[in-house]
Amino acid sequence: MKVAIFASGNGSNFEAIMQAVAAKELEMEVVLLFSDQRESYVLNRAKKYQIPTAAFSPKEFDSRQAYEQAVLDVLQENQVDWIVLAGYMRIIGKKLLKAYPNRIINIHPSLLPAFPGLHGIKDAFEAGVSQTGVTIHFVDAGVDTGPIIAQGKVSVHSDDTLESLEERIHKKEHELYPKVLQQIIGKGNLDFKIKENRNLS
Ligand code: GRF
Repeated sequence: MKVAIFASGNGSNFEAIMQAVAAKELEMEVVLLFSDQRESYVLNRAKKYQIPTAAFSPKEFDSRQAYEQAVLDVLQENQVDWIVLAGYMRIIGKKLLKAYPNRIINIHPSLLPAFPGLHGIKDAFEAGVSQTGVTIHFVDAGVDTGPIIAQGKVSVHSDDTLESLEERIHKKEHELYPKVLQQIIGKGNLDFKIKENRNLS
């Protein structure tokens, strides 16, 4: 299966995915890294793995539709089957959802439906929960609302700082995301999502 990874920033999840692909633990072909930020660090990581990149931002277009059409054109040129979001900080619009129905997966750093949005880790930390985690889900038109595929729990320790919690959450993401992608994209186990909220931790 040909996969495009979408990322906006650092790209540590991209790196974890590429390591799993290199180790043959994740059977999929990453044919494109797309970023909506021309200067994002993830583009350097893509170069390291010799993954073709495309980078442009919605600001460069007259409308969101025009931006999404440009994204779609690049995906179709590369015959992409699946989109994997790895820190892509934008809502996916109708055009892409229609072109890739149930073929877009996202990772979010909280136990959804708790703490959706841009600051999942901070919001959970500030709420004082004793447990948070990560969620992998199919993408729909909402913000972090699509059907949940898998969740991994992370305990909040009494001496945690936001930074130490972030570190453990990212570690959990890097373990869980490649495993789940292997089930769904690698093995083609498409109903992996529907049965239950699997906890693979
Ligand atoms: C991750 O925490 C992911 O869950 C969220 O954005 C962050 C991206 O981190 N959607 P990175 O760019 O993969 O390091």
